[in-house]
Amino acid sequence: LRETMSKRRADSPDSPAKRPRTCSLPYPTTSGASPPFQQPTPLLSFSYTPAHELVFNDSALRYYVPPPARAKLSHGYDRWIRRPEERSRIDSLLRALSRAQSQKHPALASGVGAVGWRGVLTRILTAPYEEREGWEMNVMCVKGVLYLEEHRSEEMLREKNDLAPRQRMQTYYGYAFESYCTCDSPHGTNIPQRPGDPMGWGGDVDTNVQWCSVVRTKLGDTRLVIGGEVDCVRGKFTGKTDNFVELKTSMTIRGAQDEARFEKKLLKFYMQSFLLGVPEVFVGFRTPSGEISTTQTFRTVEIPRMVRGKPHAWDPSMCFRWGDSFLRFLQAECRAQGDGDESRVWRVTFRPGVGVDIALLDEAGVDEVVAARRRMGLL
Ligand code: A3P
Ligand code: MG
Ligand code: MG
Repeated sequence: LRETMSKRRADSPDSPAKRPRTCSLPYPTTSGASPPFQQPTPLLSFSYTPAHELVFNDSALRYYVPPPARAKLSHGYDRWIRRPEERSRIDSLLRALSRAQSQKHPALASGVGAVGWRGVLTRILTAPYEEREGWEMNVMCVKGVLYLEEHRSEEMLREKNDLAPRQRMQTYYGYAFESYCTCDSPHGTNIPQRPGDPMGWGGDVDTNVQWCSVVRTKLGDTRLVIGGEVDCVRGKFTGKTDNFVELKTSMTIRGAQDEARFEKKLLKFYMQSFLLGVPEVFVGFRTPSGEISTTQTFRTVEIPRMVRGKPHAWDPSMCFRWGDSFLRFLQAECRAQGDGDESRVWRVTFRPGVGVDIALLDEAGVDEVVAARRRMGLL
């Protein structure tokens, strides 16, 4: 399929009319006002157990605690229970959504336009500033609702699972920081559980375990249901998003170049948090060997102002305008090409600096994407 697609692209790069099944959306080039983005309303939360089973409770919820000074992020690396990288399917989000629907959640009364994990929406919205990494996505449109799902090729999955030891360790640093910054009860403290654990260690890392929040929001005219992992809350969980905290690690800033790199990265931190209504990003700055040197709290809504006017600046209104036109483009294309057949699946391909292509998948691709969901009776 990919061969056919790229052949088609090569044959007629500028004339969509000759490519009946592919269609492109270029980047926005004009400036303008941002379409409104509604404050996210939480619908429900759920947890993944150590067996990575979805349970509709808050057993995996963690509470913020300040990390100890000079925390060593390599601690516990050998005991990391690592969930293999797999395709991040939309299934559990759909289960959560059908649960909220069956409970007649008032925030769903006006309907839904698009559903996806926060990671997918972050990728869409940050695309105008993405210079390196392309991505692919599966899209279905059922009863007028778009279902968006990241597509990772076999090769990408292999790469993610076979990280070089150094990269693997760096990934672990992020999780170790989460351990030091969280505790299993509000206002608690972390007491070392086993000999050799440092003060403040919150327990060994098991990346099967996650706590997720599902919210409803709206970008322009598109009502969105977005699910995502929330690292912890400050104080008690009240059912609102206003004390959610996103934890991040980043290399210590030693000069102008580091600062510029960090400020570019802030777009992802910002968007990832903003989409779920997470008001605070708590960053641990670390040395190359994984020792926390300083920490800093960022208020999510204040992040864009920090980069404004700089040479490497990004502007969230550009992201929201692009996101809005992207979603409207998908809706229009799926309607135009769908012929009323709701089992159709589209593959969206993003190429940095160019824009996106959308192409209808053939039967083999569709089977792979849809079969599991059909079995579950979700679509
Ligand atoms: P850091 O972000 O501190 O590096 P999240 O920040 O989204 O809660 O993710 C927690 C950790 O998972 C990250 O910590 C990082 O270690 C790892 N991680 C998340 N997304 C990743 C990606 N795309 N590639 C590599 N590691 C990733
Ligand atoms: Mg997280
Ligand atoms: Mg995090």
